[in-house]
Amino acid sequence: MCETRNSFSLANNIKNTSDKMILKKISTFQRIYIPFRHLMTSSTENCQNKTFPIDSSPENLKRTKIEKEIEELMSDKSTSIFLPSKIPQKEWPYLISLPSRNQRRRFYRYLKNNEDYADREKRKKATRQDAYLKRIERNESNDHIKYYLGANALFTKIRRKSMSKFYNHNLANAVLFGQKIVFDVDFEDEMDRREHRTCVSELQACYQMNKLAREPFHLHFCNVNYGNEFFKNLVHAIPHLKTVNPLVTVTSDSYLKLFPKERLVYLTPNSKVDLVYDADDVYIIGGLVDARPKPVTMEKALREGIRTAKLPIAKYAEVDKNFYPNLIIKQVLKVLIKMSTCRDWKTAFRELPEWRKEKNNS
Ligand SMILES: C[S@@+](CC[C@H](N)C(=O)[O-])C[C@H]1O[C@@H](n2cnc3c(N)ncnc32)[C@H](O)[C@@H]1O
Repeated sequence: MCETRNSFSLANNIKNTSDKMILKKISTFQRIYIPFRHLMTSSTENCQNKTFPIDSSPENLKRTKIEKEIEELMSDKSTSIFLPSKIPQKEWPYLISLPSRNQRRRFYRYLKNNEDYADREKRKKATRQDAYLKRIERNESNDHIKYYLGANALFTKIRRKSMSKFYNHNLANAVLFGQKIVFDVDFEDEMDRREHRTCVSELQACYQMNKLAREPFHLHFCNVNYGNEFFKNLVHAIPHLKTVNPLVTVTSDSYLKLFPKERLVYLTPNSKVDLVYDADDVYIIGGLVDARPKPVTMEKALREGIRTAKLPIAKYAEVDKNFYPNLIIKQVLKVLIKMSTCRDWKTAFRELPEWRKEKNNS
């Protein structure tokens, strides 16, 4: 309190602006420092009496090293632009596990991209909110009869909730009568962290795509390991999976337990057999992303004695001589969704990227 009184008496005598600035700094200091002063003195006293153990675990040492490395990169103008403003706490264990400087740099860039994306989204949201408020203001200041959706309009507004109900009704129908498609999510060990992330986002896209389809499939996520990181990320990406009735089946059981073996067909690019579409069959899609493809699903299907098939791309689409038909998960589901309604491979393969041209012969 003594310092406060001093500064007040000082204020009465101060006239010029530079002195006023100094006074401002003093009062800021008092505002921040004085309330916590007793804590700071007591902790200093404690420090004098006690010795604190230094955390010299390898993780902590590596973290210190990484922090220094980030400081170095920060000081360089050419590298600082690729650095995130802060490393989220949950990303530290992974960052520490990265062995090389180059890998860490790539990860910084990834975090920076995430940060930029979040910023962009925030700005977009703010612009949308502004536009919305302006629209409301404009409409309220209008004394005439209001013609727009939500007021007087020829068509009724279809609300998001109604659309959601419609899609859920469609999905419920698929659960009762639709064809079964299995995602075998048993490949956590086959993927690195980046492939994990891609796989989760692909499965999320598959869920969304199936929900919006005219005739959706009944999706099954089989061989789920509820405790692993992959499943946690999947639930984070598809929060619907947590609900009481998610309208898809999520189970730790194998598809062998759920369906008769003779109905199962493992879809794999390494199979020699071209798929003949049958709505009674249960198709299994490997829930994995691999940058360096290995015949993982083919081996698994052979081990389990399940039929295998590949999409007949080479038969119906013009492809390169060295074409390796390794499609990503969501492309496979897209083709199957199309095929289930049109029953024509040529039309179904039009869902694939541009470079696969249609063959002229049938
Ligand atoms: C990215 S691929 C993974 C390929 C992986 N090397 C494997 O062993 O299956 C993901 C899944 O999509 C399906 N898939 C990809 N291309 C396919 C094709 N041409 N024919 C049938 N299924 C395919 C398979 O079920 C595969 O497991």
